Amino acid sequence: MKADIAAAPEGSVILLHACAHNPTGVDPTHAQWKELSDLIKDKQHVPFFDMAYQGFASGDADYDAFAVRHFVEEGHQIVLCQSFAKNMGLYGERVGAFSVVCKDADEKKRVDSQLKILVRPLYSNPPVHGARIASTIMGDEALNKQWLGEVKGSSPRALAAVPPTSTELTPPPLSAPRHGRPHHRDARRPLRRSRRPQHARRLEAHSAPDRHVLLHRPDDAPDGRARAEGPHLRACLGRDRAPSHRA
Ligand SMILES: Cc1ncc(COP(=O)(O)O)c(C=O)c1O
Repeated sequence: MKADIAAAPEGSVILLHACAHNPTGVDPTHAQWKELSDLIKDKQHVPFFDMAYQGFASGDADYDAFAVRHFVEEGHQIVLCQSFAKNMGLYGERVGAFSVVCKDADEKKRVDSQLKILVRPLYSNPPVHGARIASTIMGDEALNKQWLGEVKGSSPRALAAVPPTSTELTPPPLSAPRHGRPHHRDARRPLRRSRRPQHARRLEAHSAPDRHVLLHRPDDAPDGRARAEGPHLRACLGRDRAPSHRA
């Protein structure tokens, strides 16, 4: 990815999935996002974020916004497409937001006018019902808090309902990347969680780099819990030798 971004002509638009990358589930770590931000800045590219699953990667909508916020803090003039179809359960209502960070009020005016020129022949007047629901929820502190809690609560349920991926059926090649940087991290299926560092160490001892097991240490995980995940975790641990801590 870095090689492609570096090879792209200066000023290219770089499409990035802000979190819960669809379809791979592979998200950069915070450190990797920072590297991408530096590289994109060096090349004067335009970062274009597609964010359709905020809150579904980690269960925490704030944590999932890291990349977008970091790029803005770093001075990028990002373009951001947000969909609330999934995290507000508003499928079919066509609700989202399109944001462009402009350098000043004058640029904003010009961008606004260009967007209106594009929008007019496309859909002219968008459906408003879902947008009003989203705006009511986000504009009210109590409702917003309730919604964030519901996103957190619904996300593991949504994830558990996802059918197995092909990586679960096909053993990965022996040359697969080392754990911690898995090629096919199945981010949708956290299997075991614990807050205790000794569990992280124990899981690390059991995990196998060639089986795509990803270990989150407590300080690396959004909820401060050690977590091991991956399509082959059970095989790595051995069904009869699962760690003694509870999931
Ligand atoms: C990454 C990503 N972006 C955007 C969308 C589209 O969102 P919407 O349904 O609001 O058009 C999807 C839909 O699945 C998606 O996966």
